[in-house]
Amino acid sequence: MGGSVASVSGRAPAVEVDFALIGHQESWRSAADVLAVLRGSERTALPDDEIRDILPWIPPRAVCHVEVGSNAGATARGLYIDSFIPPDRLGPAYVHENVARVRGAAACAINAGAKIVSLGGFSSILIEGNFDQLPEKHDTAFTTGNTLTVAFIVQGVKKMCALQGRNLPRATLLIVGATGDVGSGCARCLAPGVRCVQLCARNVERLRKLAVELKADGVQVEIATDLQQFSAEADVVICAASLASPSLLLGRIAADAIVCDAGYPKNLSPTAEMPGAKVFFGGLGQVAGGLSFAPDFRGVLNRHPFPDVVHGCLLEGMALALERRFEPFSHGRGFITEERVQEIEAIAARHGICLAPLYNADGPLEDELHCHAEWSRAYEVLPRLGLPRDYRSDSGQRA
Ligand SMILES: NC(=O)c1ccc[n+]([C@@H]2O[C@H](COP(=O)([O-])OP(=O)(O)OC[C@H]3O[C@@H](n4cnc5c(N)ncnc54)[C@H](OP(=O)(O)O)[C@@H]3O)[C@@H](O)[C@H]2O)c1
Repeated sequence: MGGSVASVSGRAPAVEVDFALIGHQESWRSAADVLAVLRGSERTALPDDEIRDILPWIPPRAVCHVEVGSNAGATARGLYIDSFIPPDRLGPAYVHENVARVRGAAACAINAGAKIVSLGGFSSILIEGNFDQLPEKHDTAFTTGNTLTVAFIVQGVKKMCALQGRNLPRATLLIVGATGDVGSGCARCLAPGVRCVQLCARNVERLRKLAVELKADGVQVEIATDLQQFSAEADVVICAASLASPSLLLGRIAADAIVCDAGYPKNLSPTAEMPGAKVFFGGLGQVAGGLSFAPDFRGVLNRHPFPDVVHGCLLEGMALALERRFEPFSHGRGFITEERVQEIEAIAARHGICLAPLYNADGPLEDELHCHAEWSRAYEVLPRLGLPRDYRSDSGQRA
């Protein structure tokens, strides 16, 4: 895969563009890193205050070519288009400006001849209720990518419960941002398999509507606009609220709760004190068939502790391109069903796009959790050998 920045931003499609990914940066650090690659390694890095001045003036543009390989032997080629929404301008005050940026990014994708476009992060939030705001008269399909995101969140929650030896059917599940596209999709997939589901968002009417739908399937449901109003502490939490910055404080949840933060930007405030909780970042997948960028944005556009990990919303467009299904798979808000989640999960898996290893801000989680699960099982057999079971008291001797 070749190509310079100049050829990426060119108007005429030089090569076939199967997919385009529209995104924006979550932090000033990642925005600075993107600008550094675009400017080239021979130039000195810009100071942070200059980056904050410049970024709002950069129009949406294609920044690199992306190539994705499939386990089934297929390859798809595409573009990453950054809308350059400044990280501190995701709030409601900037909605019009940001919709215009996403429209601009969509026009870039259409001009490049992209057959399918994934709307990443806030791009989908801005557009999912307003698909009519996208440029008209084109053969490009747009997908929010939220169905594959839901699939990876659900898989992650189940995996984390298994690693922690938790019984999901006995758990109380709290979903923050429950009436959103991602939150309601997670509710439809997981609520029938838990003891009780707690739905939280600000608009009570939308909460009531979702509760009625879930109750009709026999689910025990509680709704609240304030997290403190729920009657019990949640054992499992999914954070899927469209927050402009990491500001969520969960308050009253079980001390050892499993917490999936699926927000982009992250939902959970860095000041949230949950020492016993197992927090992981949700909605992420990994490409087994390889992923490459030109210019080389590896680790810049996908800043994760594992290679070839990408947000589910962007992977959905790539999976559909590999499958040659150029269609608006995830369209609108609130239509994600378990059947559609299974369908996109199967398409993605066919091409080697699967749940990414679990991690959080402190790094990878699975080795530690796997080890914990193995030791827990091992200590279960101790009484049968006539040995004491309380391994905590002699942990020093085991080392
Ligand atoms: N990991 C990934 O790959 C991935 C992919 C797609 C999306 N995402 C992220 O997932 C999150 C949700 O996306 P979405 O498409 O579902 O958004 P959405 O459809 O706009 O839904 C947002 C939800 O959050 C609620 N909400 C907003 N502000 C809130 C607050 N202050 N307190 C409680 N609830 C609040 C909204 O309801 P009310 O307005 O009634 O409060 C709604 O239920 C976003 O952060 C998005 O960037 C991640």
